[in-house]
Amino acid sequence: MCGIIGYVGDERKAMEVILDGLNKLEYRGYDSCGLAIIENDSIFIAKKSGKLENLKDFLKDKEERSFIGIGHTRWATHGNPSDENSHPHFSNDKRVAIVHNGIIENYLEIKAELIKDGCSFTSQTDSEVIAHLFSKYYIDDPITTILKVKERLRGSYAIGIIDRDNPEQIICTRKDSPLIIGVGKNKNFIASDVPAILKYTRNVIFLDNNEIAILKKDSVKVFNSFGVEITKDIIKIDWDMEQASKNGYPHFMLKEIEEQPSIVEKTLNTYTDNLGKINFNSSLNIDLSKIKEIYIVACGTAYHAGLQGAHFLKNISKIKADVDIASEFRYSDPFINENTLVIFISQSGETLDTLMAMKMSKSKGAQTLAITNVLGSSIAREADMVLYTTAGPEISVASTKAYTAQVTLLYLLAIYLGEKNGVVDNESYHSYLDIIYKLSNNIDLILKKKEEIKLISGFLKNKNDAFYIGRGIDSKCCQEGSLKMKEISYIHTEAFPAGELKHGTIALIEEGTPIIAIATQEDMVEKMLSNIKELKARGAYVIAITKERYTNIIEISDNFITFENIEDIIAPTVANIALQLLAYYTAVEKGVDVDKPRNLAKSVTVE
Ligand code: M6R
Repeated sequence: MCGIIGYVGDERKAMEVILDGLNKLEYRGYDSCGLAIIENDSIFIAKKSGKLENLKDFLKDKEERSFIGIGHTRWATHGNPSDENSHPHFSNDKRVAIVHNGIIENYLEIKAELIKDGCSFTSQTDSEVIAHLFSKYYIDDPITTILKVKERLRGSYAIGIIDRDNPEQIICTRKDSPLIIGVGKNKNFIASDVPAILKYTRNVIFLDNNEIAILKKDSVKVFNSFGVEITKDIIKIDWDMEQASKNGYPHFMLKEIEEQPSIVEKTLNTYTDNLGKINFNSSLNIDLSKIKEIYIVACGTAYHAGLQGAHFLKNISKIKADVDIASEFRYSDPFINENTLVIFISQSGETLDTLMAMKMSKSKGAQTLAITNVLGSSIAREADMVLYTTAGPEISVASTKAYTAQVTLLYLLAIYLGEKNGVVDNESYHSYLDIIYKLSNNIDLILKKKEEIKLISGFLKNKNDAFYIGRGIDSKCCQEGSLKMKEISYIHTEAFPAGELKHGTIALIEEGTPIIAIATQEDMVEKMLSNIKELKARGAYVIAITKERYTNIIEISDNFITFENIEDIIAPTVANIALQLLAYYTAVEKGVDVDKPRNLAKSVTVE
């Protein structure tokens, strides 16, 4: 989704900082970009559709003369990706320039009113109304003005504004879209996300909903929704540029896949103590005697992690757990109340549907727990309780390491709740922990099979369709494998419980149709064998992902990736690493932009 960066400092390098920040925000997904700087008492705007290179090219001969500016990467919602629709947007008097991330739901109504006032529009965006409103309402101080503007806006927004008549300051505010402030020495920043400013400072202020800030080169003032100045904590970011850079890897995705063994270990070290007990410290405060049901709510890959989590909760903690997609859950009027725990999973902590589903759950009295990777994110701040995954920054749009961190954490949570629930005794507590302690090593072993997996992707790259099949919890793993393949390789894939194929989809199987068959569950091996036979009889090319000891599956398949005989409950998490690599190498073979697949955004902050 859109990315915002702003700089005000004592050095004339606004363009350099903004272009560098936009570069760091590229991973969020965008289709156009632009910047606005103040120089010689006026605002200069440059904006281009397409890649950042276009903008850089356009600006290559421009002399650096500015101390202040804002920049934007746009992911089109209202109006196609074009130079005109790119941000920043001017007010008619060219007094202010604004950048916006989010959606102004009532922009048509405001636009009609502004046109009546004589205002002319240069874009089809919802965002442009903000520039005109700011200019229209400007009285004599920016806080009163922005409060008036906010009164008019419905929807979600993070906004950055520069004002020709107050050339020393950036004004910003947010509601349900992310915005942080970077606090430096004689330089301050606004940004959608930390990587954009990490080169300059690790000190960050997380703006809360409806707060407003005025940044000058040597001061940051934050105001609440009534315009009263407040004091905010400055948080030190504990990761560095190296973690947010490729570090010699050809793609962030491969780097992030390979980080997974150490991320599992980090999760276990973070949440277990030296007595071998799971320890969530004060982060978790669940009164289990009140909880009758657990929901897990998330989107995309995080939803798939939730499917594994629900399996753990049912099998280990013996607690009823349902999983739902956030964009469905929030409109489904679910039967939840103070006896429900709703767990929200989100890598970014900013996914709008997940955030809104959480707000709805809270309004119904449910207890809410966030599992997120981003400190100070909207979802973390909104939840009653938060558990952080310790995956470090995930830059590739395709989520890999965050998924594995989420699954590992959910596994620990299930043991923890199972003990509290009185169904996990001391012996099983430790044998469950022993299983998860083997995960890191098993992931390591499958990573060593990269070359084998690469060869299989050579076959897949020319295919238009592929089907993923499995039974039980493997079928949930198939959903994640299928999503990974389609989002980065653009091959059409579908995931099915294996037994469901003959109820329709088997009609699509013909000579050479690729089937990726996951078989990791002891009680399902025979059934999977029959399903594979049925598919092979119709010409399918079967790639099995299975344990070494399931030789009958291996023998009947055309190709296979095997791993050690790890316990069933965690085996799909190991199989998933093979699916990540398969998707990765297929995308590489096809020559597509692995880290920034078309049409996608890393952090989905609109509905
Ligand atoms: O930041 P979140 O975990 O809330 O994001 C949810 C999905 O948008 C995300 O997992 C998406 O499906 C990924 N692109 C999948 O790789």
